[in-house]
Amino acid sequence: MNFLELMVMEVVPSLEELVESGKNLFTSHFGHAPSVASCAPGRVNIIGEHVDYNNGYVLPMAMPLWTVIVGSYSQTKSNKCRVRTDLASAQCKSYEFEVPTVESGSSVNIHPTEEKSTKWANYILGTVNEFVKVHSLQSGFDCCVVSSVPAGGGLSSSASLEAAMFTLLEALTGLTTVDKVEKALACQKAEHDFANVPCGIMDQFASILCQENHLLMLDCKTREVTHLQFAFPESAFLVINSRVKHELGDGAYRKRRAMCEHVAATLGVESLREISLDILKTNQPQFDQDHFNKALHVVNEIDRTAQVVKILSANESSEESLNSIGQLMNQSHASLRDLYEVSCNEVDSLVEMAQSCAGVYGARITGGGFGGCCVVLVTKASISSLLETLQKMYSEKYDLEPIFYMATPQSGASIVQL
Ligand code: GLA
Repeated sequence: MNFLELMVMEVVPSLEELVESGKNLFTSHFGHAPSVASCAPGRVNIIGEHVDYNNGYVLPMAMPLWTVIVGSYSQTKSNKCRVRTDLASAQCKSYEFEVPTVESGSSVNIHPTEEKSTKWANYILGTVNEFVKVHSLQSGFDCCVVSSVPAGGGLSSSASLEAAMFTLLEALTGLTTVDKVEKALACQKAEHDFANVPCGIMDQFASILCQENHLLMLDCKTREVTHLQFAFPESAFLVINSRVKHELGDGAYRKRRAMCEHVAATLGVESLREISLDILKTNQPQFDQDHFNKALHVVNEIDRTAQVVKILSANESSEESLNSIGQLMNQSHASLRDLYEVSCNEVDSLVEMAQSCAGVYGARITGGGFGGCCVVLVTKASISSLLETLQKMYSEKYDLEPIFYMATPQSGASIVQL
């Protein structure tokens, strides 16, 4: 990294540093040392946006941004759980609840919290609830949560929290046999039931199943995963946080999902994955413009993602391939902005500014939308000038400092040895 890159690239704590700060927080708060630890990454989606709940293809990778949880079984052997965090998004940093245990039996129920100041705990509560439906805990536990995944940035801070929590419970109980797909589905259910967000399966699959140095191609219909290498050594994906926060639970996500389901049901199919562009266009008179636009985005985005996967699978490191991937990313952004309507002015500006810079093949908003991050495909040689231009242009226009992260693909959730 040169001097300029060091200046503006976000200095994110390493995994080791996060584990260390988790251990320190735990020891100072609970007065004894933790016995186990887990980590789970955030993700960036390269293409395939708002198609996971339409059974399409998605192409995320795990980012070097982590949620780490350290913990131990309760020293008093009670069925009480004590959770402590230093998450900036948590207004109240502590939460306590009870779990069914071998001793207390299954009559203890776990409920979501309605308190705004402790809403962050719902991802934990929901995940523990899913875990104890199938597995037994000896007693309650103490744990501390630390994270470098920005909350509300579109990089899956919630899925990384769920995946890290599930993995901590595996470490506590010594379970090694939980299937990763079952684990991802349990974490998704936690988000549906306790955070009240009707998310698809992409984020939890990415946080759990990704592999180092690979993109994850997930077929959301069959749940088949393929690990794809990004064979372009001269290029990289850069993620830029607009610092505009989204709120997925606010109904806009739910509304779009319902619109897609309405179109599929009207056409008599299980999901929009089953619909070709021709069929959608032939049936356009059955829908108002808004429903048609939403479905049009989904049908085209599934096709765009399949095209990117085809290019990556060919493993040809040509300029033409990069140009094609870049164009598909640009088209994806335009569609998310104009048809699916999940972008915002700040992210649109960042994307346009990036697209106009030398060495950039393509750029698009990533994640659920309504703020958050964009992802840019760029030659490594142009990163410095891109950072300089974007920082200047964006901060002048919005009085906000963009945050830059290099997206080097990491592996999914794991137990950390203390
Ligand atoms: C959020 C959801 C995912 C997915 C994306 C949009 O991140 O959690 O399931 O729908 O939005 O692609």
